[in-house]
Amino acid sequence: MEDLVLYEKVGNIGVLKVNRPKAFNALSREVVDEIDNKLAIIEKDEEIRALIVTGDGNFAAGADIVAMVELNPEQARAFLFSDTFNRLENLSIPTIAAVCGYALGGGLELALTCDFRIASEDAKVGLPEITLGIMPGAGGTVRLPRLIGEAKAKEMILLGGQIKADEALKAGLFTKVVPKEELFDEAMKLAEKLAQRPKLALKAAKQSINNGKAQAEAIVKEADIWSSLFATHDQKEGMRAFVDKRKPQYIGK
Ligand code: HXC
Repeated sequence: MEDLVLYEKVGNIGVLKVNRPKAFNALSREVVDEIDNKLAIIEKDEEIRALIVTGDGNFAAGADIVAMVELNPEQARAFLFSDTFNRLENLSIPTIAAVCGYALGGGLELALTCDFRIASEDAKVGLPEITLGIMPGAGGTVRLPRLIGEAKAKEMILLGGQIKADEALKAGLFTKVVPKEELFDEAMKLAEKLAQRPKLALKAAKQSINNGKAQAEAIVKEADIWSSLFATHDQKEGMRAFVDKRKPQYIGK
């Protein structure tokens, strides 16, 4: 079987690529565990000075709905990705999400853990969890409002729609949008620039910015609220409807 996550070093830049194209890079527990394994390697590698996170074709269309449908709250809590996403956010080196295609749900939450997000013109982002009878659970309700402001974040989280690259750029979610064929080179250019900055000062600045967010507790609480929804009818209905390719019938229970 092909590796679910690819990792390579290009000079002193690390490139981490989600590689499950048939499922639009849906993030299963296995994919996230693989990301975690690669992060352990990256943390120990003194040579790596910046990291690019990307996906094959799409960035990632969210957590794997098929794997989540029948989870109970306890299992949902264990399924969550917050530990790995926090680990990525707290890497001492700068990180860049190179976003192509869909970055939805947990996929967008993955991109939100990076220091920068640059995108190709075909990128579409959103937090569609509400349409499945749940809410974002891997940092989305905490990180997105801080990044783009509460009103725009609420529009995305409570309505669950998608926005295109140019709108995401205007909202401050992306720092740059480029044609698809230029995305990787653009990410490399930024990574190389960052790699030339003094490493200890970079690490200190990043640590200080992350400290200022004081968000750890909110992310733990988000996980508790998120998993509690797995005791509801509407979560089961929303996810079963996605799997059955039909419209969900919500009853508010
Ligand atoms: C499992 C997924 C998936 C997902 C896509 N696929 N997204 N499988 N989990 N999140 C699969 C589809 O089932 C399908 O498989 C194949 O990928 C292609 O998808 P289609 O729907 O046929 O393609 P298209 O019509 O082009 O629509 C693409 C799409 C749509 C807009 C991305 O697939 C979609 O809405 N996906 C779900 C997005 C979503 O709701 N994400 C949030 C998940 S909840 P088959 O086998 O039929 O070809 C979440 C919570 C995070 O992320 C909290 C932390 C754990």
